[in-house]
Amino acid sequence: MRILVLPLLALSALLAGCSGDADAGLPMPLTHADKVALIASLPEPYRSADLANGIFRFQGICKECHTLGRGSQNLTGPNLFNMFDQVAGARTDFIYSDAIKNAGFKWDAEHLQGWLTGPQTYLPGAKMTFQGLPNEKDRIDLIVYLMTETGYRTPGMLAASKPRP
Ligand code: HEC
Repeated sequence: MRILVLPLLALSALLAGCSGDADAGLPMPLTHADKVALIASLPEPYRSADLANGIFRFQGICKECHTLGRGSQNLTGPNLFNMFDQVAGARTDFIYSDAIKNAGFKWDAEHLQGWLTGPQTYLPGAKMTFQGLPNEKDRIDLIVYLMTETGYRTPGMLAASKPRP
């Protein structure tokens, strides 16, 4: 099964390349059904996240500086589509601080927990001027909302979407 994935990925990259789409390498946004599957496949406490609170936090704090949509523009901060499992500071169309460029980790829930608690403490020298979200439940709700809006698929979802012989 695993062996099938690589040729398929190569083929879709090739096809996407032909269309001249600047966002060709990016996954597609999640459908409503994908979002339901995503949340169901997360471990606790993420599976029980309150999405309405996640939206509320994003709109109240992050939206001023970040867009989430596929191919949306950078604001004061970079567009966050496809951020999960990507190396921090990886976008070529955004000028990051050295702190984030040298961080050397990939974004996942655990790193976001640290980053959103206090960006300047987590990565001293980072230029995200946001005080931090002290409440853990708020961070969990926000992280799950980010997952649903940025095209993230868990390994379990990717395995399930593979064609069956
Ligand atoms: C005042 C503007 C501002 C606000 C508010 C803000 N950010 Fe940021 N964010 C930035 C900037 C600027 C960077 C780049 C940091 C650097 O280069 O050090 C960044 C970077 C990030 C990154 C790393 C992206 C990457 O490509 O590696 C994530 C993730 C992130 N922000 C999430 C959030 C979330 C979630 C919120 C809301 C809780 C938020 N930010 C609030 C400005 C902001």
